[in-house]
Amino acid sequence: MVSKIKTVAFRGIDVLDIDVEVQIANGLPAFTIVGLPDKAVGESKERVRAALHAMGLSLPAKRMTVNLAPADVNKEGSHYDLPIALGLLVAMDVMPQDAVQDFYALGELGLDGGLREVTGVLPAALQAQTQACGLICPQSSGSEAAWAGEIEILAAQSLLQLINHFKGVQVLARPQARLDHHVSKSIRDLSDVKGQETAKRALEITAAGGHNLLMIGPPGSGKSMLASCLPGILPDLTPREALETSIIHSLAGTLPEGGLLRSRPYRDPHHSASQPALVGGGHKAKPGEISLAHHGVLFLDELPEFAKATLESLRQPLETGETLVARVNYHVTYPARFQLVAAMNPCRCGYFGQVEDECTKAPRCAEDYQSKLSGPFLDRIDLQVEVPPLSIEELGTQPTGEPSSVVAQRVEKARLVQADRFAALSAPSLMRVNGDAQGKILEEIAQMEEDAERLMRSAAEKLKLSARGWYRMLRVARTIADLDGAPDKIGSPHIAEALSYRRLRLADL
Ligand SMILES: Nc1ncnc2c1ncn2[C@@H]1O[C@H](COP(=O)(O)OP(=O)(O)OP(=O)(O)O)[C@@H](O)[C@H]1O
Ligand SMILES: [Mg+2]
Repeated sequence: MVSKIKTVAFRGIDVLDIDVEVQIANGLPAFTIVGLPDKAVGESKERVRAALHAMGLSLPAKRMTVNLAPADVNKEGSHYDLPIALGLLVAMDVMPQDAVQDFYALGELGLDGGLREVTGVLPAALQAQTQACGLICPQSSGSEAAWAGEIEILAAQSLLQLINHFKGVQVLARPQARLDHHVSKSIRDLSDVKGQETAKRALEITAAGGHNLLMIGPPGSGKSMLASCLPGILPDLTPREALETSIIHSLAGTLPEGGLLRSRPYRDPHHSASQPALVGGGHKAKPGEISLAHHGVLFLDELPEFAKATLESLRQPLETGETLVARVNYHVTYPARFQLVAAMNPCRCGYFGQVEDECTKAPRCAEDYQSKLSGPFLDRIDLQVEVPPLSIEELGTQPTGEPSSVVAQRVEKARLVQADRFAALSAPSLMRVNGDAQGKILEEIAQMEEDAERLMRSAAEKLKLSARGWYRMLRVARTIADLDGAPDKIGSPHIAEALSYRRLRLADL
């Protein structure tokens, strides 16, 4: 007889249906897995054999063939252990086929028959839901799967528990959906930051409109500190964003404690990160840091220290909001709609522009250092602010700024205004903040008063703004207007402020 268990394979964030077919036939004893299994799937044989043995079952001395269909899709990962084991149990008549026919199954087996956590349980559960099926998964992933809605979920600790459930001996309870309440320890509060009013304002605009920000300043002026305040002023993810971001984290195995993400992700990879680590890919395609930062923030500290090619690879995702990983036999797309926040020193010694501290090689050293960032890359950064060193007076005083919670309220209000405006214009669902606005919608939302338009034109001429620069400036001005009570048309003070954050030639610092 041939048994059949449903499971899944992943292509980027897409989920493919896979059938695990198991046949036990007479012939020389053998256990074969076919259907393009990778090494982890191939080794599944040994884990399944040991897990069944642990339950007191031994595989029959017959010819056992496991086929993973469709046979032309590469199968990667250890989550095929459970469907293979279930297929064998059905083929061995330990369990009836009807019991498992309306379930998708995924999970890794331990040698003792225990079920171990695997990646991708959330997207698999969503797939099961679209096919009106249930899901069998390891217990530790149950709360993640429960977010897929009203489907039957069997989250078991071991294979034995599953068999007992189907026999009605020990019925498994439905797992509870959980939210991630984890708050990162590295988040700082804006009220701790002394001075740096321009940078704080830029941070608020960045958060309100989903813009990109670059902070330039000497060592110890508070750039990294300011960036770590950003998660504290960003609103929580909307339910839809939470699901989208959590799917990516589920696939990467970085979903904390199996709960759905609630706060916006904040990723700060070290500058030694490789290109695949940042944009995704590698031997086995995995989402990179920019996808893990989907709907959140990617913070690149010490920007020029990143490899040039790595930075250049961010150019396309910064425009399109997704990244395409191409391989010879397949390509996958990962969403990557993130805000880029970066910090850097103006030169290698760090003190370019501070007359007393400058090294003897200035301005050559600044030009060399900054030349690591290409024009097109910088053109994608809407706000570029200087973070000067604090004066001794400022250092000596107590910080007097607003706490993050107050700024967060303003940011949230501005974001709500934007969401309402996009909804009124029936904008595509991809557009949620001004930073996402494109084409006709952008023209519609970024109408200017007459004097504002005159100012914009003359500035564009003087600064030699590119078309992209023009539109980015408009988006920032729109956000400034939204923080300013959201007048219908952008006024000249909003344009003037947006212009002040645009510094095209870093060496002019
Ligand atoms: N404006 C500030 N207000 C209060 N504390 C500050 C400020 N700037 C710096 N500090 C203190 O100095 C420490 C170092 O600052 P930070 O790491 O942000 O500097 P940086 O600008 O990132 O320097 P580098 O260029 O070397 O990375 C902070 O952790 C904080 O304690
Ligand atoms: Mg720093």
